[in-house]
Amino acid sequence: MQVSAKAMACGLSPMRKFNPYEAEAVKKGRKVYHLNIGQPDIPTPAVAMEAVRNYGEQVLAYAPSAGVPQLINAVRDYYARLGVQYGPKDIYITAGGSEALYFVMLSILDEGCEVIVPEPYYPNYNTFISSAGGKICPLPTSAEEGYHFADKARIEALINDKTRAILYSNPGNPTGAILSKEDLRVLADVAKEHNLYLISDEVYREFVYGGEELTSIAQFDDIDDNAVVIDSTSKRFSACGARIGMAITKNELLQQQLNKFCQGRLATAVLEQIAAAALYGLDASYFDVVREEYKHRREICYQKLMEIPGVVCREPKGAFYLMPQLPIDDCEKFQIWLLEEFEDNGETLMFAPGTGFYANPEDGKTQVRLAYVLKAEDLERAMEILKIAIEKYNAR
Ligand SMILES: Cc1ncc(COP(=O)(O)O)c(C=O)c1O
Repeated sequence: MQVSAKAMACGLSPMRKFNPYEAEAVKKGRKVYHLNIGQPDIPTPAVAMEAVRNYGEQVLAYAPSAGVPQLINAVRDYYARLGVQYGPKDIYITAGGSEALYFVMLSILDEGCEVIVPEPYYPNYNTFISSAGGKICPLPTSAEEGYHFADKARIEALINDKTRAILYSNPGNPTGAILSKEDLRVLADVAKEHNLYLISDEVYREFVYGGEELTSIAQFDDIDDNAVVIDSTSKRFSACGARIGMAITKNELLQQQLNKFCQGRLATAVLEQIAAAALYGLDASYFDVVREEYKHRREICYQKLMEIPGVVCREPKGAFYLMPQLPIDDCEKFQIWLLEEFEDNGETLMFAPGTGFYANPEDGKTQVRLAYVLKAEDLERAMEILKIAIEKYNAR
């Protein structure tokens, strides 16, 4: 029996592939601090559960394929507050931002097509692109340059006749870098000039810590044909389990293709869409509170991390991740050792090894991604464990 080359081109998620080792560690009675996955511990706003409790229908019927009007309208209102007018047919509700990315890739890529992605990148981008027959064309960035990549010449050097799109996350996972309005203008102009889709993954939009408002690609009104926004309830409303996200575009040809994939999978879960509609209706003050909490966590985590000898890290400006370089030989070996052999007072930790965030895994071998999604005292303890673990690992 054979499996597809497309499946073979995909890797396991570095955020989850060490789960079997974790299960063994837990069996041994270890407490594991999870810094590997962007699963916030902040309660989902109560309006979501209330909306589900108040759902009065007798039948859980299929929703319209592109999403329930209640949610689509709530999303339109949310964007109107950002100064962006979307029509009902511009929004396609999906099972998380993940399915939105799948559907966009299935809609725009032919076999062998390329998508330019600044590196390090969110590892599942490879799964979405490879499963649609495409390939990531990495655009290397560095901590020294603040992960800056919005440079016309650097991007144009990667464009060829197979290039269909530029994809980035803003704020960036895993780097925490954010793109300025000027950066976005550069990307918009390149996309326009070369007829490329500009796919802006803005699932962390509200998590920016320097006091500035993040500019959305949606706010540029001259790239309607190029721009695709990926949005999600997961991080913004601490509602990862709702599995509600969306692809948003004004490009009619792309809308028609997205609609086919939405119809093919029939619909997204109804109750979660009802919950999501309530979430999108929340006042902006909700984000002020949550942002402050993440900012505090970032400070604790960054400060403690920088006290570890040999660690090199750039302070993230947004999202909720740090991408330090650690004084270790191999982050995957270190992770396995942490779960199989190490413990400090019965405790250990998980991170996402940097190898999964690069087209060439060697480039991320000494880096890890840490998600500061736990409460401050847990983060402090986790950084203490990391410090002790690095010393013991290197002394073996
Ligand atoms: C950059 C980025 N995009 C998209 C997603 C997908 O999230 P979801 O499918 O939960 O909306 C994630 C999840 O971690 C992410 O970090």
